[in-house]
Amino acid sequence: MAKEKGIKELEDLPGVGPTTAEKLKQLGYDTIEKIATASPHELAELTGMKLDAAKQAVDAAKQATTLEFKTASEVDAKRKSLGRIHTGAKSLDELLGGGVEANAITEAYGKFASGKTQLGFQLSVNVQRPVEQGGLGGKTLFIDTEGTFRPDRIEQIAKAAEMDTKSALENILVVRATTSDQQILAIERADKLVRESNVKLIVIDSLMSLFRSEYVGRGALNERQGKLNMHIHKLQKLADTYDLAVYITNQVMDNPAILFGDPTTPVGGNIVAHAATTRLYMRKSKEDKRIVRLVDSPNMPEGEAVIKITPDGIKD
Ligand code: GTP
Ligand code: MG
Repeated sequence: MAKEKGIKELEDLPGVGPTTAEKLKQLGYDTIEKIATASPHELAELTGMKLDAAKQAVDAAKQATTLEFKTASEVDAKRKSLGRIHTGAKSLDELLGGGVEANAITEAYGKFASGKTQLGFQLSVNVQRPVEQGGLGGKTLFIDTEGTFRPDRIEQIAKAAEMDTKSALENILVVRATTSDQQILAIERADKLVRESNVKLIVIDSLMSLFRSEYVGRGALNERQGKLNMHIHKLQKLADTYDLAVYITNQVMDNPAILFGDPTTPVGGNIVAHAATTRLYMRKSKEDKRIVRLVDSPNMPEGEAVIKITPDGIKD
């Protein structure tokens, strides 16, 4: 956390003017903490600052930051007090340790029609319920990048849950993003909306489709990953600051490097892999059944749950 020493923004650091600050932000050094842990040589090289100036900036950033130490029991108490959104299926909730976690990013990846979007709809409705009923008592911000948001599905799911369908629809704020820049902006500008509208769930369906179609070829990969990194970082920050849940869907590709087992791999590389607190792999089974595999979780064992996609939403 940055101490109250007058140094709050990058621009407050000695030797860092508005242009350098902007450059640093674009390179992903967007907080005082990141400057504090950066190497002066690297900063100098990347921004064209003089090495001495970069050293001063890093020193000042170090002085302006303190670490807050907490005991494990404090951390434990905080984790237990965090809310969770029920998914509609008990087996999936149990697999997740109670549902989709607040203060974290949950990713669902899988092939087409595996149920990623449907789960997003279900969560968008369920988050509206009070905490005692498996929600977080808040609204949803839904970033639709594929044009697959369906209000009539929301209505159906809400009706089946005996909720007021009109308010269920009112409580979902939908942004249709058609470029990755729009997607990024929607999240960059979300703070005010999240605060004022009590948003407790942000859905991005899907995270990578626009990035993938716009940044084609090896040459564009660095730039893509840089932008993606900042985008995800902002999502994490929103999740932390406002105790909200983030649910992202992701596409898959076949990874020829995997010789044994299922070669299906989520796209987005390490940046997405590291950012997602919990990863779910969804695949189609018979008829309306879907198998959800918990692939990555900080505290739950790997395992699978079988769910059904019904007209009423996700069920056991
Ligand atoms: P992509 O976005 O194409 O990658 O797939 P996805 O994983 O998001 O799939 P989605 O969540 O859209 O799931 C599609 C499946 O849900 C389809 O196979 C349909 O069978 C099922 N589905 C969609 N709408 C309904 C509905 O109104 N009723 C029922 N029972 N099933 C539905
Ligand atoms: Mg979808």
